[in-house]
Amino acid sequence: MNQAMGAGGGAGQRVVLDGDYGIDDALALLYLAGTGAVQICAVGTVHGNTGAVQAAHNALHLLGLAGLPGVPVAVGAHRPLAQAVKYSSLVHGDDGMGGQAVPPTPDRRPVVESAAEQLVRIARAHPGECSVLATGPLTNLALALQLEPELPRLVSRVVVMGGAVVEPGNVSPLGEANVVHDPEAADLVLSADWPVTLVTVDATMRTWLEPSDLARLEAVTSPAGVFVRDALRHYVRFYDEHYGRRSCPLHDPTAAVVLVDPTAATEVLTRPVRVELRGEHTRGTTVVDRRDNRGPGRPEGTAVRLVLGVDRDRVVREVLDGVLAVS
Ligand code: RIB
Ligand code: CA
Repeated sequence: MNQAMGAGGGAGQRVVLDGDYGIDDALALLYLAGTGAVQICAVGTVHGNTGAVQAAHNALHLLGLAGLPGVPVAVGAHRPLAQAVKYSSLVHGDDGMGGQAVPPTPDRRPVVESAAEQLVRIARAHPGECSVLATGPLTNLALALQLEPELPRLVSRVVVMGGAVVEPGNVSPLGEANVVHDPEAADLVLSADWPVTLVTVDATMRTWLEPSDLARLEAVTSPAGVFVRDALRHYVRFYDEHYGRRSCPLHDPTAAVVLVDPTAATEVLTRPVRVELRGEHTRGTTVVDRRDNRGPGRPEGTAVRLVLGVDRDRVVREVLDGVLAVS
């Protein structure tokens, strides 16, 4: 790590990561570590792909592999705000890492504060300087907004992987996993008065790996590369069985690329977004107010920057180059 870098590597913007450290969250973290384009200040974990504690062990292991053992990891919410917890074990394995997770070691422990407390503390210490990348259910961010109502003025921007606009949902007809896993939290975060970029499945479902991309990963020899390659085999098996493609889309890594380089987004819509909380078939749906009228009934609320398309080749190349740069 060069002298100008902080504990989280990278000399650029400070970023707090918040995720449910499953397989694509892992790729996103390693990509960010490999590019060195941002300084990872801290990581918070949340229920979703696995439990928040297991997700923290996964994040600690990944940070160790990435040469960033000094980055603090805080365990966050164990359950959603208003529904029972449900893990995506089928997609990510019981351990979130497709069976590759390693047991925690005594020298690598989460910090004592919660992920929401950690986010608020860092945002207060560096007002206007930190971005947040959320790649899991938004429970921690919602709790942080409740802890510190001034949070929207303390963070510079929030990039979230989640939501579906035209693309079908991936866990219900219209619902995307990170929103469906905590609709109340997602609604609070998307309607708060802060600059949110929502990288939807409309964009991420266009980032499938080609056989040549998988071959690049199969050839890795670094400990980080080997770890993520083995976890990806589980992920690819899920998509093969459920989507009929021996491949996978890069959900969370796409959001990480958009955080680093917003110009990777090729199709963007800026509109208010709310989350449906009551519908029997639509709970967890992102409702985008696409009306253009300026008169009565015009769209109100905070405008969210919805990413609906990305430069697929650029995203995949950036992610693989970043991941493979981790030695
Ligand atoms: O819908 C994709 C999201 O849900 C990603 O964050 C992935 O990790 C899964 O949990
Ligand atoms: Ca995730």
